Amino acid sequence: MYKYVCVTSLIDRIRQTIRQEALYCTMSSCYVSGVLAVATFMAFLLHGSEAQLSPTFYDSTCPNVSDIVQTIVQLVQSSDPRMAASLLRLHFHDCFVDGCDGSVLLDNSTAIVSEKDAPPNSNSLRGFEVIDAIKMTVEYVCPGVVSCADILALAAEVSVSLSGGPSWTVQLGRRDGTTANLTGANTNLPSPFEPLDILKAKFAAVGLNDTDLVTLSGAHTFGRARCGAFSDRLYSFNGTGIADPTLNTSYLTTLQANCPDGGNETTLNNLDLSTPDAFDNSYYLNLQSNEGLLASDQQLYSTSNDPIASIVGIYAGNQTAFFESFALSMINMGNISPLTGSDGEIRSNCRLVNAS
Ligand code: HEM
Ligand SMILES: *[C@@H]1O[C@H](CO)[C@@H](O)[C@H](O)[C@H]1NC(C)=O
Ligand SMILES: *[C@@H]1O[C@H](CO)[C@@H](O)[C@H](O)[C@H]1NC(C)=O
Ligand SMILES: *[C@@H]1O[C@H](CO)[C@@H](O)[C@H](O)[C@H]1NC(C)=O
Ligand SMILES: *[C@@H]1O[C@H](CO)[C@@H](O)[C@H](O)[C@H]1NC(C)=O
Ligand SMILES: *[C@@H]1O[C@H](CO)[C@@H](O)[C@H](O)[C@H]1NC(C)=O
Ligand SMILES: *[C@@H]1O[C@H](CO)[C@@H](O)[C@H](O)[C@H]1NC(C)=O
Ligand SMILES: *[C@@H]1O[C@H](CO)[C@@H](O)[C@H](O)[C@H]1NC(C)=O
Ligand SMILES: *[C@@H]1O[C@H](CO)[C@@H](O)[C@H](O)[C@H]1NC(C)=O
Repeated sequence: MYKYVCVTSLIDRIRQTIRQEALYCTMSSCYVSGVLAVATFMAFLLHGSEAQLSPTFYDSTCPNVSDIVQTIVQLVQSSDPRMAASLLRLHFHDCFVDGCDGSVLLDNSTAIVSEKDAPPNSNSLRGFEVIDAIKMTVEYVCPGVVSCADILALAAEVSVSLSGGPSWTVQLGRRDGTTANLTGANTNLPSPFEPLDILKAKFAAVGLNDTDLVTLSGAHTFGRARCGAFSDRLYSFNGTGIADPTLNTSYLTTLQANCPDGGNETTLNNLDLSTPDAFDNSYYLNLQSNEGLLASDQQLYSTSNDPIASIVGIYAGNQTAFFESFALSMINMGNISPLTGSDGEIRSNCRLVNAS
């Protein structure tokens, strides 16, 4: 059913794949041709009747999958310190649109209008080539078994733990969707310009409560944001003609220097000014000093009479409490409407629905 391989023997090929996306299809077809049909059939026999996510889902069919994900994420992260953050965000943007079904990974094709062109994703989401490299390796070791949606969930966990954050037991057994939903990507994903009640409602719409909102926003403890995601706060906040009054004035000066009025909106900024690449609780300490980067971040602390500010206080004072909650909320997010049993499919290329 599966082959044990030493992942290091594949690393040179993975490196090439990450740099040259076009290689993927050539290489995957040479890997999977012939074995794929048999493997898919066997996977169906094994899993056709299971309908629940479980941490042991691949124990007999692909026991090395989490090792493979970890090895590749670690390799890429060592030369691209932003990648852990980017991979965590991919899982979030997958789960909020028609559930955690790998839909965010699909490219345009005859039947698919890709979610990648939605404003929250376009010129912003990254890490697709890393998911391709993981998928290629996993297909080589255990063809037709592991879904792209599960690879995103595993990559998110390993990205957080490798960056100093918590570990958790990843639930597995999601299957891949055969559709993308551009409208869903346009409307379900939260925007940094939206007021708190809308952000709460968007989380509630996928079964996540206000605690999950505050906790999962702590993901902004690493990664980058373009000037365009917050520059309104620097010059004319919400049409007022002045800077956002909840923005720390010395931080305001720093941000204005990096994002001049009318300047390039794609310039990158650290989401966490104090420890940009570490997964820690400094995001919440930043909010307490009025140094949240996005308006949607600062609102979690600065909205008067909202009880969620007390959750910020708990996490700012106790990193263990944040880490425990983050692990729970990630499991909650990973449970959004998964396809299980014989629904959906196991894509052989994360960018394409399997040929019918
Ligand atoms: C409250 C709702 C949220 C809003 C409004 C929001 C918005 C944003 C925006 C505007 C960016 C910068 C994008 C860019 O400029 O290219 C960003 C980056 C990021 N977001 Fe969120 N986000 C939210 C919740 C989350 C959640 C729930 C997670 C994960 C659990 C997450 C993880 C990240 C990460 C890790 C980055 C940095 C990505 C990178 O550097 O590639 N965000 N977010
Ligand atoms: C895969 O499994 C085998 C046997 O358990 C082990 O020797 C190997 O180190 C594992 N990891 C990778 C990344 O191949
Ligand atoms: C995907 O298709 C949509 C709709 O046809 C189009 O607007 C978009 O530019 C395409 N994206 C890419 C990357 O080709
Ligand atoms: C796409 O997403 C929108 C917004 O969540 C939803 O109303 C619609 O039913 C979804 N369409 C499909 C085909 O899933
Ligand atoms: C912007 O101003 C409008 C009108 O005053 C208000 O309804 C809205 O909530 C404000 N948005 C934010 C993000 O504060
Ligand atoms: C949110 O749900 C969690 C369980 O997942 C619960 O412990 C927490 O109290 C809830 N928070 C709110 C604000 O309802
Ligand atoms: C902004 O910077 C990016 C990256 O350096 C560049 O590709 C783009 O052309 C610039 N845009 C403008 C409007 O100057
Ligand atoms: C602004 O940030 C500085 C540096 O973190 C901090 O010492 C100060 O207390 C902050 N001011 C306010 C009003 O939050
Ligand atoms: C920090 O949070 C953890 C987990 O909730 C809890 O066990 C611990 O007692 C808290 N520590 C303090 C100092 O409050």
